[in-house]
Amino acid sequence: MKLGIVGSGMIVQEFLPMVHHLEKTEVTAVCCTKRSEAAGRELADKYHIKHVFTDFQEFLNSGVDTVYVALPNHLHFQFAKESLESGKHVIVEKPFTTTYKESLILSRIAREKKLFLIEAVTTLHLPNYKKIKELLPSLGNIRIVQCNYSQYSRRYDSFKEGRILPAFDPKCSGGALMDINIYNIHYIAGLFGRPQNVEYFPNVERGIDTSGILILDYGSFKCTCVGAKDCKAPIANNIQGDKGVIHQDTPTSICDNFELIMNDNTKSFVNESNCDHRMMNEFLEFQDMICGNDLEKCYKLLDHTLLVSEIQTIARRKGGILFPADEEI
Ligand SMILES: NC(=O)c1ccc[n+]([C@@H]2O[C@H](COP(=O)([O-])OP(=O)(O)OC[C@H]3O[C@@H](n4cnc5c(N)ncnc54)[C@H](OP(=O)(O)O)[C@@H]3O)[C@@H](O)[C@H]2O)c1
Repeated sequence: MKLGIVGSGMIVQEFLPMVHHLEKTEVTAVCCTKRSEAAGRELADKYHIKHVFTDFQEFLNSGVDTVYVALPNHLHFQFAKESLESGKHVIVEKPFTTTYKESLILSRIAREKKLFLIEAVTTLHLPNYKKIKELLPSLGNIRIVQCNYSQYSRRYDSFKEGRILPAFDPKCSGGALMDINIYNIHYIAGLFGRPQNVEYFPNVERGIDTSGILILDYGSFKCTCVGAKDCKAPIANNIQGDKGVIHQDTPTSICDNFELIMNDNTKSFVNESNCDHRMMNEFLEFQDMICGNDLEKCYKLLDHTLLVSEIQTIARRKGGILFPADEEI
């Protein structure tokens, strides 16, 4: 796979140090803004990337076969669309797009052209998450699910000082639901599918949700998802059934070890984790999927991404968090 990366920010800097573990992947190009060109060149030197572009069309024409879109949220759709239209496979950072409508458009293009289109979200690919899925029946009837991903953000300090970075900017489709609660949606929708009802109660400052509570109603059980970037709490995911509970104390983006505690207090400690880097499992799967031409697996994952995108869009709009892309409904 000849991978081209668009963006040179935090997630790219986290991704590149582990790329040598992807044996069938060569990062051949990075595309950055003019203002970040020097930083892009530094990354290219450090990780032996042949080409640095500041022009996206030149980047697309440089021989990359797969584009990794690692840009602020509001740019995901346009860059992914142009990449697909020029015949490239696409890996898009979470959250996939701003609106469900945009997600449907990308999905249609990818399927028509038989291209890979994948949302890079760690959760679904982590061994402990897969194990939780396997163990769910042992909990009996699910009654309550709680996911609390509260992580005070340094970018919130800047936000309070009036320096609005993309992760808090409504113009960039930022906010706590898009940035952090999206992992909780992936976690829950991946286990239980489509909820019957979705409500979002955000804490709003300067037009953006700096934290909020999402409620997913599955009829016979209810889920609360807390996503906060303006305050901190011990992380906890509890999946509570009438026979026992799964308790996990790491974010839904990391899904580290967990406990299975039955009603008679029998406890099992589970840890299936097999990689040190949180992005490794997902990218190994993407590489295998693309190099093995497993479009079926890709489109199954894409269906899940579409569901999450739909839930996100409904939640946000019900909570009154609107972005420029929502005007094109
Ligand atoms: N940070 C994380 O831990 C994390 C984790 C998982 C997923 N993600 C996702 O990854 C995405 C990027 O997040 P981030 O934290 O890396 O953001 P970031 O640090 O703000 O980086 C964004 C990058 O995109 C570049 N960029 C903006 N417009 C561009 C354009 N037109 N062409 C090329 N490059 C452009 C920016 O360049 P300039 O600086 O010059 O504007 C910057 O290098 C987001 O969707 C986020 O949800 C982030």
